[in-house]
Amino acid sequence: MPADPVTGDDVPRTEATTPTAPRTDAVKASMEAVYDWNYSPEIDELRTLYANGLERQWIATRDLDWERGIDRGAFARTFSLAGLPVSETDFWKSLPESTRWEVARRSSAFLLSNFLHGEQGALMVAGQLVGAVPHTDGKFYAATQTLDEARHVEVFAAYVRLLDDVHEISPGLKRLLDNVLAADDWRRKVVGMQVVAEGLALYSFRDMRNGTCEPLLKQLLTLVARDEARHTAYGIKYLGRIVPTLDDRDRADLEDFAFESSRLLIDSRAGTSMRENVLEIWRGAGIDPIEAMGKLAQEREVLGRVMQRSGRRMGPVSGFVIPTLRAIGLFSERIADHFAEMFSANFRSPEAGNLARMAQDLPEDLEAWVEGAD
Ligand SMILES: [Fe+2]
Ligand SMILES: [Fe+2]
Repeated sequence: MPADPVTGDDVPRTEATTPTAPRTDAVKASMEAVYDWNYSPEIDELRTLYANGLERQWIATRDLDWERGIDRGAFARTFSLAGLPVSETDFWKSLPESTRWEVARRSSAFLLSNFLHGEQGALMVAGQLVGAVPHTDGKFYAATQTLDEARHVEVFAAYVRLLDDVHEISPGLKRLLDNVLAADDWRRKVVGMQVVAEGLALYSFRDMRNGTCEPLLKQLLTLVARDEARHTAYGIKYLGRIVPTLDDRDRADLEDFAFESSRLLIDSRAGTSMRENVLEIWRGAGIDPIEAMGKLAQEREVLGRVMQRSGRRMGPVSGFVIPTLRAIGLFSERIADHFAEMFSANFRSPEAGNLARMAQDLPEDLEAWVEGAD
């Protein structure tokens, strides 16, 4: 119980009785709801995904072992920062155990809070897709995804609560979700959500899943990432079929939407990247972030070796989102130039621009890839 700062007496917590402003936020969405009077299967691949989605349902309260809580030691021992395996460095190992836990707990709560908010966005977009897509098979599938995303919101909210309070959504992610929710064209929604947002999410969940030894988190991410593999596959299969039928103007519009969505999440010049928040969190946990970054930079080789050993791809955008765009025919020379320019500016090296053009194929079986090590 906290003490009153004046009298020193214990005062009861009052959260439950203090009136607070409603914690909601709204964005105007307008789109056409489309009937499809043809009820026979039209796009077999989407029908198969729908059947698969029904088959693979799970229940958060039944299929995850919440009783065991978080294994703090395992959590801090295998903490990685946005794919960077910092826990393998001497710098990390030299920190007191309590500091390691604090840094890991707070940074992860921030990142997982953003996963949670992204899941809420995905839940609403999946619901919109039921109405917006013009094929019955696409509607059926989107209905299963809506349920998947509700479950994802449920499990991330529960896990974050074990670590810390839920952090606010980062501005870049909020703008991306607003744009996708407000888009009136279903193809834009699918590009922004299923290709960019879900691609980034799948890559990051898988990375965290393979890196962590914390049993509950690993179990949670395995189940979530399996679902996300299906969600990404929907974008690839559906758009892969639609894009070849588009004229140049519509195709360029979708490419631009994909680029803008990626830019909001990773371009530090957009003022929306999460880097600053993470540095602030480290400061709050008692670590000077500038000094820490300097020490981590000295161990660049160790980090590089570990990343190579674990077969990490080239980061979510160049390693996953771009290969997806290429696979569905939305990666022209024109848009490759935009990505190259963004990479060069953000990584402050002209060679970084090549990342945009380095061919990397998408894994053939996404679900198998999620649980594989490379
Ligand atoms: Fe999800
Ligand atoms: Fe998803």
